[in-house]
Amino acid sequence: MTATVETGATVRDPRAGKNPLKIRNIHHVELCAGNAKQSAFYYRKAFGFSQLAYSGLETGNRETTSYVLSQGKIRFVITSPLTEGHAHTRHIGCHGDGVIDIALQVEDADYAFNEAVRRGARPAVEPHDAADQFGVVRRAAIHTYGDTLHSFISYSDYKGAFLPGFQPAEIAGQSAGLLLVDHIVGNVELGKMNVWADWYSSVMGFSRYITFDDKDISTEYSALMSIVMSDDNRLVKFPINEPAPGRKKSQIDEYLEWYRGPGVQHIALLCGDILSTVSQLKANGVEFLTVPDSYYADLEHRVGGIEEPMEEIRKLHILVDRDQEGYLLQLFTKPVQDRPTMFFEIIQRKGSRGFGKGNFKALFESIEAEQAKRGNL
Ligand code: FE2
Repeated sequence: MTATVETGATVRDPRAGKNPLKIRNIHHVELCAGNAKQSAFYYRKAFGFSQLAYSGLETGNRETTSYVLSQGKIRFVITSPLTEGHAHTRHIGCHGDGVIDIALQVEDADYAFNEAVRRGARPAVEPHDAADQFGVVRRAAIHTYGDTLHSFISYSDYKGAFLPGFQPAEIAGQSAGLLLVDHIVGNVELGKMNVWADWYSSVMGFSRYITFDDKDISTEYSALMSIVMSDDNRLVKFPINEPAPGRKKSQIDEYLEWYRGPGVQHIALLCGDILSTVSQLKANGVEFLTVPDSYYADLEHRVGGIEEPMEEIRKLHILVDRDQEGYLLQLFTKPVQDRPTMFFEIIQRKGSRGFGKGNFKALFESIEAEQAKRGNL
């Protein structure tokens, strides 16, 4: 079990150093998809991404097809394998669609890789040059939970549209106002949450930012425990969930069963005007979880005054939570592929650096209603 600390507090692990891998930011998130062409179309039309670049048969890539999408500072790469023996083909067969790489831009990919491996990371791809007519990029990768990678990418004067191997293929999208990746949550097996939290402190130098235990995150049926790991600048936040015993199957168990193991549960995307973002996403057909109307009956009493009109909040089914630093507004999509695995969170922060602890109960009841429909509760 873990100790619960107040929202916003950081528990410094003595092994955590000051950014030992010299991580700058999340460079991109790569998602493996059965049909990248159609998935990219979905992210453009439903979420308002623009297409930046492409790699595939036409660019001389006979192994995979990838579409690079961007909105604000968010970059997604949607990749499909083209051959039977490709690792991504096995990934789709085993896990379905999902995140294969949370790629980090670092000062020096060789240094980050060597230091990570020295600190206990399992190597995936040795440092190497990736080059094309626009310049050279250094790349390497380590394994994190499940079949998920952290690539390390460094470059100083690369001039291409994205990375070597990609050609510009711009299609403007109608932005929904999504700005950046706020956090990326991993689901791991029972008993492995602390193992992976320790891994993020010893390998990446991250600190425990916030811990939730099953008293915070439980309903009558299911529960989960979560530790938020964050870099010193709190630019990169990776919460880790594990299932907690409940009367019925937890949403984390359902994920682990259908993803066939640990993986990314949700990607939270930050926006500056959630009313307009969510209105647009809903008009585009993005499906969100809804909480019962009773959630809104005493919302004002629970969270106090907020700047947004309460009627709009209720109409769009947006969730609100407050802590000592301010409040946040958030909303969760339903899973975005056939398996009940990965989903997205849309979040706007008004001072709060928390994760919406006050919404967990209402939210989990909503998730359990969906699990029951799938026969997975
Ligand atoms: Fe989240």
